[in-house]
Amino acid sequence: MILKHTVSMKNCQVIFVKQHLAVFRVIVTWVMLMLSYGADASDAPIIDYRDRFHPVTSATGMVVSQERLASQVGADILALGGNAVDAAVATGFALAVTLPQAGNLGGGGFMMIYLAEQDKTIALDYREMAPARATRNLFLDDEGEVDQNIARFSHLSAGVPGTVAGLIHAQQKYGNLALSQILAPAITLADQGIKVSNSLAFSLKRAEQRLAKWRSSKKYFFRADGSGLQNGDLWQQPDLANTLKAIAQRGAKGFYEGGVAALIVAEMENNNGLISKADLANYRVVERLPVTGSYRGYDISAMSPPSSGGVHLIQLLNILEGWALSDLGHNSAGYIHRLVESMRRAYADRSKHLGDPDFHPVPVKQLMDKNYAQRLRESIDLVKASSSSDISPGLELPYESPQTTHFSVWDNDGNVVSNTYTLNFSYGSGIAVAGAGFLLNNEMDDFSAKPGTPNAYGLTGGEANAIEPAKRPLSSMTPVIVFKDGKPVFTTGSPGGSTIITTVLQTLLNIIDFDMNIAEAAAAPRIHHQWLPDKIFMEKGISLDTQQLLEQKGHVLLTSPRVIGRTQTIASDGQNTYGANDFRWPGGAAIAQP
Ligand code: GLY
Repeated sequence: MILKHTVSMKNCQVIFVKQHLAVFRVIVTWVMLMLSYGADASDAPIIDYRDRFHPVTSATGMVVSQERLASQVGADILALGGNAVDAAVATGFALAVTLPQAGNLGGGGFMMIYLAEQDKTIALDYREMAPARATRNLFLDDEGEVDQNIARFSHLSAGVPGTVAGLIHAQQKYGNLALSQILAPAITLADQGIKVSNSLAFSLKRAEQRLAKWRSSKKYFFRADGSGLQNGDLWQQPDLANTLKAIAQRGAKGFYEGGVAALIVAEMENNNGLISKADLANYRVVERLPVTGSYRGYDISAMSPPSSGGVHLIQLLNILEGWALSDLGHNSAGYIHRLVESMRRAYADRSKHLGDPDFHPVPVKQLMDKNYAQRLRESIDLVKASSSSDISPGLELPYESPQTTHFSVWDNDGNVVSNTYTLNFSYGSGIAVAGAGFLLNNEMDDFSAKPGTPNAYGLTGGEANAIEPAKRPLSSMTPVIVFKDGKPVFTTGSPGGSTIITTVLQTLLNIIDFDMNIAEAAAAPRIHHQWLPDKIFMEKGISLDTQQLLEQKGHVLLTSPRVIGRTQTIASDGQNTYGANDFRWPGGAAIAQP
């Protein structure tokens, strides 16, 4: 009996130990999985004063933009009782005055808005539209070749501007304050003038030749004696102030109808441009559904087509999710190889499938499908670089200028705005509308000027992005909001043309996989690959032995002649907001509401 009891006790103990071992094994396996796939990255503190770089902290909301005065305008609007949309719109109008290379009235962009009360995210498309008289071969010369000068630096290069319509739509529908309050700071900055900063003088100098070609631009962007504006000069923009006043009084009609519209049409008629009175009156903002995805327990909400940004950001995250990136080490050869091979495949898809969804069916679901990502991942040789010529047919991507600008806003109620807008190139086409004080975009150059024609490899592509009347050109702009457990945890975005997507991707990976705070995530050196040209562009800071290991795998590396992206990021822990402006351009700021 006793023996039996002992035996049965023993059995019980064995069973008990076995059960515990099984539970223990499950826990160990789970912990290993979590560690290996980085799913516990959110445990990293959002701010740690032992780090090298630090975000700005606020208990009452935050505005981050590429220019200090404009960030301050947004923060002041928050202090006046405006919400994130009010502050974002005021910042957008202020940037049109203080950051003329990219802030704009004559361009277009995308705004992601998260409304906390409704738990709803909106993807606002205010991208430029091709004028009604635009034709497929608009930029081809007599030999059928693309005339890049016409495509980029003529009145034909301008799409119908969307910025004013987009900002006004957002503010009127989702803001709290009166439009006059929102426009007032920008009007004051234009009327009273701003002190030219060294970085603005530098940027104007670089665009000098392009701007000096046009009488209106010469008047607006140079000193009265025709010499270049210098650091410390007082720079007033009375014509721009008048345009802003018309918008403050009449909303979007102050721009798309009446005196300002007449000035735009006259500018076109005097210079063989295409934008007509009807084009301006017909401009439409579109509220689209954001594209959404998931990555290691985070939910991603990003801009949908006609931006390629959101689709390819999610596609890239889907491919990369299958590897334990944090185990490889940040910017190690193994990590960069996986990034590059994923980017190569995503950008090949971009060249073929992406365009304005209102004109061409874009296979958004398929491109963002996790099974498709798995197939792409399985096609990647972890030892050897693949060749872009083996990946997929398509055209070499056109050069895309890095001059765009992003800003992020987070208010005290948890509303979030992530906005990227642009003139395309720095100072757009370089052509200012005479009498109206603002520059025209050269966004028509973002269309494929010559689709369907074989490139040097005999490959074709770009049909989805061919020029058509009223169509919106394909973009790479990637404003994004990232959620965890249903709550927004950070937002980011960047200028940088085709490098925007890879910049935003690396920012997300730095935060999620490598536990960096948002300032550290911004500061880390970046790489870029866009399928064609078949090269890894690197910022300074990738070690020589890493470069050698990548070359041994068969990659071609090039130190990028310019920085890759400039992010404006805000994070929140539900209590405080944390803002980080990229260090790659001086003068920007993360400003907390006073
Ligand atoms: N113009 C650059 C872009 O939209 O991506």
